[in-house]
Amino acid sequence: MVERWWRDAVIYQVYPRSFADSDGDGMGDLPGITGRLPRLKELGVDAVWLSPFYPSPQKDGGYDVADYRGVDERFGDLGDADKLIGEAHDLGLKVIVDLVPNHTSSEHEWFRAALAAGPGSPERDRYIFREGRGPDGALPPNSWTSMFGGSAWQRVPDGQWYLHLFDVSQPDLDWGNRSVRDEFLDILRFWLDRGVDGFRVDVAHGLVKEEDLPEWDVPLAILGGLSLGGLAPVGPPPPMWDQEGVHEIYREWRRVLDEYEGGRILVAEAWVQPAERLARYVRPDEMHQAFNFMYLSAPWRPADLRAVINESLAANDEVGAPTTWVLSNHDVIRHATRLGYPVERTRLHGIGPDDPQPDVGLGLRRARAATLQMLALPGSAYLYQGEELGLPEHTTMPHEYRRDPARPRSGHTVVGRDGCRVPIPWEADAPSYGFGPSDRSWLPQPAVWAEYALDRQQGVPGSTWELYRAALASRRSHGLGSGTIAWQQAPDHALAFRNGDVLVLTNFGAAPVDLPAGATVLLASEPLDADGRVPTDVTVWALG
Ligand code: GLC
Repeated sequence: MVERWWRDAVIYQVYPRSFADSDGDGMGDLPGITGRLPRLKELGVDAVWLSPFYPSPQKDGGYDVADYRGVDERFGDLGDADKLIGEAHDLGLKVIVDLVPNHTSSEHEWFRAALAAGPGSPERDRYIFREGRGPDGALPPNSWTSMFGGSAWQRVPDGQWYLHLFDVSQPDLDWGNRSVRDEFLDILRFWLDRGVDGFRVDVAHGLVKEEDLPEWDVPLAILGGLSLGGLAPVGPPPPMWDQEGVHEIYREWRRVLDEYEGGRILVAEAWVQPAERLARYVRPDEMHQAFNFMYLSAPWRPADLRAVINESLAANDEVGAPTTWVLSNHDVIRHATRLGYPVERTRLHGIGPDDPQPDVGLGLRRARAATLQMLALPGSAYLYQGEELGLPEHTTMPHEYRRDPARPRSGHTVVGRDGCRVPIPWEADAPSYGFGPSDRSWLPQPAVWAEYALDRQQGVPGSTWELYRAALASRRSHGLGSGTIAWQQAPDHALAFRNGDVLVLTNFGAAPVDLPAGATVLLASEPLDADGRVPTDVTVWALG
């Protein structure tokens, strides 16, 4: 029997640097994660996705991989990875690992060999090396810019240039090269054999570049297309994103996954739109899931959300795939903070101490309402570590602590993504709020973290942790993940749908909204008003 656990699964993203530190060096690690798995079981998720833990110079938080078959010594070793996978399975949790196929680290043995072997060598052919323009080749081969700012090309001492859509330490691989493809098939098998249940595929829309690398002089970070800026525009894709050739790669990977038992999956990080374009990644012989970044980026307005929900469900239905909802991850401003700005000012990338600060209370209120809406939608959903605590972005972190390469590469115009990557609080009164046994933490934790700590929320009615737990339990018992939705009559400033026997109503406006007569409340993101009506920025699940 084909296992289809993922179609309605709730999957929890762990950012290993910042989840739990077992040895007190201030950096999270695999034994730390293993030790906390029972808490995730208690929360009620189905699986965990681990951001990269592979050997890496950590120039981009591990998304610069130097060895795809190992574990960075900062995080542990392969034995620790096996233990984590084994203990997760014993608890009934699946494990998804991150795969970064668009680029390697410049410290990867292939890239070192490419530099040593020189122009025209097979070693160089695994990457995208070109001659420069201008009389002495001193100009980059084309005008492409890096996602983190500046040119996407770097010159090496013999005069050639290599392409890096991200940091200069992340050279892009050439996926036209068969040896690159074979290597990744082998890497898939390496982790599948170790028991992982799937892969989150980094920059899944970027692997294949248009033949001859045509000019494209719209700065990527401003245009969008990926993490730092939002979605690529509707229309013909730029020459580095969403090329037809990527699909053949995933079809080949799918054939490998299907050789394994237990329903192993691929989830695409593909910042493409519209929904029909994204749905092409989840056709029956390709990937299983693709993050719905249109939903994540939608303004907190009923018409926008209703449109994006409809378009996403329709496009995915067309190819027989579920929709994969998400509100936060390690690349965007946490939704508890994003939603704390006036609706028209919402943005996706970092916030610094000099920027206008969010309304923290409003942000959390809307975030809880948004989460209850998301968890009632059919399909799967991803949670990002800390959101179950209502954790906001660290918006006042002094710049000297920040590590995101986007900041220096953008000439310090982009704040960067560190604010959503701060080590999370477990115990209010412990050093580093229980992140580890010492007071060290690789990014500073704000003093207010104590009030968000898990031990301040467990068993506390109305806490964000208890809200998430109750929502996950009801989502399961009412089969919401595998249901279908039917929109219901509601005032213009509200959205209401039925999923099975549950009525889901969100009020976005100032005027309270009545529930249908006789409805009984199953769960509410905040208490109802004295007349039993749904107040502003609240989502309710009701029966009847
Ligand atoms: C993805 C990752 C992001 C990383 C980038 C380059 O967008 O989520 O963190 O910087 O790819 O690998």
